[in-house]
Amino acid sequence: MSTTTETGHAAYFAFRDRLLGDLRTTVLSGEQLCEAGQLIYGHPEGLSLYGIPAPDMAAKGIRLLGRTTIECSVDAYTLPVAEELARLQADTRPQGPDAYDPMVVDLFCGSGNFGHHLGRHLGCPVHAAELDPDVYESTVNNLDRIGSSISLHLIDYRDLLGKLPARSTRDTYVVEPPWGPAFTADGLDLTRTSPPVPEILDDIRRSRNGLPCHIAIKTNDQIAHDSLTGSFTGARHLRSITPAPFLPYGANMDFHLYRLGTGAGSDE
Ligand SMILES: C[S@@+](CC[C@H](N)C(=O)[O-])C[C@H]1O[C@@H](n2cnc3c(N)ncnc32)[C@H](O)[C@@H]1O
Repeated sequence: MSTTTETGHAAYFAFRDRLLGDLRTTVLSGEQLCEAGQLIYGHPEGLSLYGIPAPDMAAKGIRLLGRTTIECSVDAYTLPVAEELARLQADTRPQGPDAYDPMVVDLFCGSGNFGHHLGRHLGCPVHAAELDPDVYESTVNNLDRIGSSISLHLIDYRDLLGKLPARSTRDTYVVEPPWGPAFTADGLDLTRTSPPVPEILDDIRRSRNGLPCHIAIKTNDQIAHDSLTGSFTGARHLRSITPAPFLPYGANMDFHLYRLGTGAGSDE
């Protein structure tokens, strides 16, 4: 590693620690957002949400907390995933009580950027849960600024599932829980996210009474103990996508699309 790369690497991890530490619930300044874009994605515009790049966020009234700045799925990630899901959805035979009126459910909303792009590409209403009141408040502000119709609740994801019976075999759930202790030296262990991914998938299955659905999940490219495959036992893997930008430091992000649930009322 060259000295310049080492310096950048150290600066990235130091800033990352701050975003998840003392800046966790602080609304970042325009300058800090640009710094985050530079350090995480290699250029300030790499941090872009709702189609708004970091250099324009402050002027447009976008408020991002430290934790959301590092946890969010940026435009360059969510757009190709939304396009792929739109293709998969079109190929799915519509069944269920509201077969032609499916929904997107963003269970761990954060910035809401994932739900935002999915709702637009799939042409579906979006329901979202966020448990952290500070994240909720800033996301409500941002969704209001961009004129989004996402229905965001300050609620545990399980309570949102309880309110949303399955509509269609074309329903899509976004599963992006905080990684916390799942981020280990051996890689990302999806059985250790909070809550663990297998538990979240069981909760989704229970809420759907056997009607299949699509799941989108983000990981990095270093999965520990085959925990992705293990978590999705019984589900069908459809696609894995590694969107650009490839990150200058840290691990790259991957997105995985699955078909979950093939019980009664299944189309497969
Ligand atoms: C990794 S972030 C999600 C990032 C998001 N997909 C984005 O693009 O910004 C996880 C979010 O889930 C929230 N969260 C954690 N536990 C939750 C729960 N039990 N129910 C709902 N939200 C929860 C956290 O507060 C955090 O904002």
